[in-house]
Amino acid sequence: MGLKLFLLRNWRRLTGRTPYPLHEDLDGLKSNWDKMGRHDPCYAICTQPGKENRQWDREEFFGTGRKEIGEALAYTASLVPDLKKRRALDFGCGLGRLSQALGAHFARVDGVDISDEMLRQARDLGAPHKHLHFVKIGSTRLPFEPQTFDFVYSRLVLQHMKTDLALPYVREFVRVLAPGGLALFQAPSRNLVLERSSISCPHEFAGHAAFMEMHGHPRGQVEAAVAEAGGRVLAVRADDSAGPAWESFVYAVTR
Ligand SMILES: C[S@@+](CC[C@H](N)C(=O)[O-])C[C@H]1O[C@@H](n2cnc3c(N)ncnc32)[C@H](O)[C@@H]1O
Repeated sequence: MGLKLFLLRNWRRLTGRTPYPLHEDLDGLKSNWDKMGRHDPCYAICTQPGKENRQWDREEFFGTGRKEIGEALAYTASLVPDLKKRRALDFGCGLGRLSQALGAHFARVDGVDISDEMLRQARDLGAPHKHLHFVKIGSTRLPFEPQTFDFVYSRLVLQHMKTDLALPYVREFVRVLAPGGLALFQAPSRNLVLERSSISCPHEFAGHAAFMEMHGHPRGQVEAAVAEAGGRVLAVRADDSAGPAWESFVYAVTR
């Protein structure tokens, strides 16, 4: 084992501290996601035990996206039965696991991500589907006109950035949402085990030391951001995406 991996695995035990500071800005987040994307992208996205070291089968991996979007759209239909199916946005698209699934239901899907490496692979994997577009973002402003999308979706993304980065995106979801559309996004609110709600979790990605940071965003602040942007929370439901140590919600928002 290399020294870096040894320290990563044992740092907390040896020092009582987390091995890395949390990222304060988007540049730091980007380079961390690029690194994970290079070494073990599927596991970085769906961190399921037994799937590390590139053990995800691609078809099975994309199958999880189809199942998730099927369930999300069934829930959406219960809230907004007449949702238009013109354009969908997948915020933090990674490899396009969810963008591809959305592509079966919407005329056009835009997947946006901060990581060039994730986007490069998403474009390769999605190449046969001409109605999928993968777009790089480098700020908390989304590069779309107001009221562009009938459906905005995000899961497993806002949990990986600090609240002062996450809330501007929540306001952006409302800005780019068409009237009568639905934004469905997941965000943890707090850690149920620790007092603090921001932690960095050491991981190995195919033998490369990296870490994933996790952040809770208080529900009241998320709902206030929606209201500030002119949105209306239709429903909030509990969700287990972030694991048992986190209280997490899926917010359904319209305008
Ligand atoms: C755990 S993966 C989830 C990918 C996808 N949502 C899925 O479930 O298949 C998180 C993704 O969010 C992206 N991401 C992280 N911070 C971001 C930001 N500020 N803006 C856009 N994408 C971001 C990462 O590059 C990564 O691809």
